[in-house]
Order: sequence, then C-alpha cells, then structure tokens
Amino acid sequence: MSAPTATTNTRITIGSARRLRGEITVPGDKALSHRAVIFNSIGEGTARITNFLPGEDCLSSIACMRQLGVEIDLDEVARTVVTQSKGLRGLQEPADVLNAGNSGTTMRFLSGLLSGFPFQSILTGDASLRSRPMKRVIEPLKLLGSLISGRQNDTLAPLVIRGGNLKGFRYDLPVASAQLKTCLLLAALYAEGDTTLGGLIESRDHTERFLTAMGAPLEKTAGTLVMHGPAKQLQALDVVVPGDISSAAFWLVAASAHPDADITLRKVGVNETRTGIIDALLEMGADITFENESLVGGEPVADLRVRSARLRAGHIGGSIIPRLVDEIPALAVAALQAEGTSEVRDASELRVKETDRIAAIATEFGRLGVQVETRPDGLSITGPVSGLKGGAVQSYGDHRLAMALAIAGLLLPAGEAVEIEDYHCADVSYPGFWDDLARIVD
Ligand code: S3P
Repeated sequence: MSAPTATTNTRITIGSARRLRGEITVPGDKALSHRAVIFNSIGEGTARITNFLPGEDCLSSIACMRQLGVEIDLDEVARTVVTQSKGLRGLQEPADVLNAGNSGTTMRFLSGLLSGFPFQSILTGDASLRSRPMKRVIEPLKLLGSLISGRQNDTLAPLVIRGGNLKGFRYDLPVASAQLKTCLLLAALYAEGDTTLGGLIESRDHTERFLTAMGAPLEKTAGTLVMHGPAKQLQALDVVVPGDISSAAFWLVAASAHPDADITLRKVGVNETRTGIIDALLEMGADITFENESLVGGEPVADLRVRSARLRAGHIGGSIIPRLVDEIPALAVAALQAEGTSEVRDASELRVKETDRIAAIATEFGRLGVQVETRPDGLSITGPVSGLKGGAVQSYGDHRLAMALAIAGLLLPAGEAVEIEDYHCADVSYPGFWDDLARIVD
C-alpha cells in the first residue's frame, strides 16, 4: 500500500495494505491515565505516573486538576506525570469554568469528586460532550446531597456544582457505566455513612482496584460496592500505566481480518473487565496469543501476538458489552471479512458516546459499499462483504470512528483507498496512531 497521506490539513488517505507486519507498543491506557491523575490529586503526597497517555482527553483532566490547585508536572515526551496533592480535602475553588473538552470521563468523574467540596464549580466541554447524557450522574448525586444542576432540566452540561454535606445512600446503577460508578464512589469518599452501590456495577474495575490500593474504605460484596465514608485519608500511588487495550483493538482487528498479517503488541493491559474484544475475536476464529504475562501496578499486562485468520460471524450481546463497549467500531470492521451475519445487541450506550456510533458506522461504512442493518441497540453486517470499495468518509470528530475507518481502509481490495475527513481526532486517545499505521503496512 501507499503510506497514509495527509491530503489536506483535515483529511488523510489510507490505501489497501498488501501485508501487515511488525511490533507496536500502543500508548498508555486512557482510563487508567485519567484515574492516575484525578485520584492522585486527592492522595496524600507525591505520585509518579509512568507511561501516561498524553492524549487530549487526559490532558483535559490535568488542566482541570491544576485549576483546582493541584501541582502537576507533565513531561509529554517522557510520558511521565508527577502529582503533588494537598490530600483528600485539599482542592480549591476554581477561579474559572473547568473545561473537560471531549472527555466524558473527566466530566463525570469530576461531577462526583466536586460534589464532595463546599465551593462552586462549573464544568463544561465541547459540543459533543455538551450533548451527552448527564442526568445519570446528576440524579444520584442530588440524592447524595450535592447541589448540582445542568442545562435542559438537569440533563446536559454545563454543570454547576456546590457540594459538601453528603449523606451515604443506597443506589442501584441503571446503566453499566464505569464513569457513573466512579463518579459515585468519588462522591461517597466524602459522604457521612455508608454508600452502597448495587444494580449494574459490573463494568471496568480500575477504580475499585485503584482506590482500594490508595487505602479507601471500600468493600466489595456479592453484587454491591460499599464505601464506608467519610474516608480519612488516601495515599498517593505511583503507577506504571499499561498499554491501552482499546487502542490495541484496532491492530487486533486489522491483523485478524487481513489475509497476510503478523503483528505483536507489547505490554497491553489485559484486565478481565476490558478483554471482551479478545474474547469476541477468538470466538470469531481469530489467532491471538498471550506472551510475557505479568502484573504491572496491580494490573495484568501481556504481549499479544495476532496473525491472519479466517473469521466467522460474531454474535455480541449481554454481559460482554461493558467489557468491549469502546471496541465496537473496531469489531464492526472485523465483521466485513467474517463469514456470515455478525450481530451486536444490547449496546444502546453506543448511541450516546462521542457520537451516535451505530448511526455513524452505518452511514460511513455505507460509503464503502457495506450494508449495515441498524437497531436501537445494535447493528448487523453480513460478510465477507463483496462490494467493498474505497471512498470519502467522515469521522464526526470521534477518535474511535476515525481509527476504525482507517483499518477498514487497510482491508480494501487492491488499489482502493478511504479518505478520512477530520482524522486528527485520533489524538484524543491515540497520539501516534497514524505513524504506527504507516510502520506496519507494506
Ligand atoms: C470509561 C468508561 C466507558 C468508556 C470510556 C471510558 C472509563 O464509559 O466508554 O471511554 O474510563 O471509566 P461508560 O462507563 O460510560 O460506558
């Protein structure tokens, strides 16, 4: 193939690849990088974060925590961060509005954390984030005693928060969202008495692991999480961030679906609550092996070797969805080459991510000659798609959609290419994605 070519400032062309070969060390995990900065901002003392992801979303978390009075040094080249916090109750009233940019994680985590403080803060974000659902955090935070409100009858950001005076409560999560779970656990650190979370708490568990390691009074029982608030003190925690499996997912899919591929991904985080993409691909017949497994900072890490395979259709739904919720755009690309009708169900959350990912996949894959059937909670694609062709596509400013369209480009018939409009948004979670892509294609 041709190497990726930036045709204009906003467009890039990715042509079909003859072979995919090589090794990639994907950048640090986004979910853990956010947590490392935000949680250490209330941990007593200094923490050093290694292999931090300097993606735009995590930089938004740093900027917000600095405005709240936390000293944070970032070395973008070395990808290290040092936080110096004044402890659990050391945040200060921000002098200006806090801007979470495109980052739902920053906004939802901070809505909970700031509910613990008796000062006023205002949280805003870009147009996409200001259209994403915030009622899910506002409603329970109000029940905890936070004075929090949002635009359009408490459903959308900007959010205005004046916290303090929280009282523990029992709440059943109505959506399997780790952002919501974390929001409530952070607020619960400051609440008087027990906060018990039940319902849909089975989502990525980085927060539970991290806060427990910092000394939070958090207990996990069958089906519940109980924070015995208020917490007295948390210890700052040095962290080595593993590679992001959500970024690795694009290469796992590209190599599985490409007829001549052999790629090794180094030091990828393989926490059980995040490996749904591997399970789904294996179920579809993929050839993925784990090598050099180890534990890094309490999180399991492995090198993943992935080679071409004959894929069969996948049927994704139910409890696996929270374990691969961010990987569905990539998985949809695997369906292009899989034999039979692949289906995704129970994934209505995709409608409220950085963009409506179900609609966006249907429209943009459609431009490449793919027929995508959509439902309110999912989609189906019948493969291998025979009329696959190149074309001009749009990312809608959604990082994961831009990267999914790029790997779709690698799988096109010889001589065909995709031209992706608004491709820079990949920087939100994967700075260096286009360079890594150029390195592995022939
Ligand atoms: C995240 C949780 C997921 C995911 C997001 C990061 C996290 O969101 O989509 O990219 O770091 O906790 P939900 O918890 O809302 O599903």
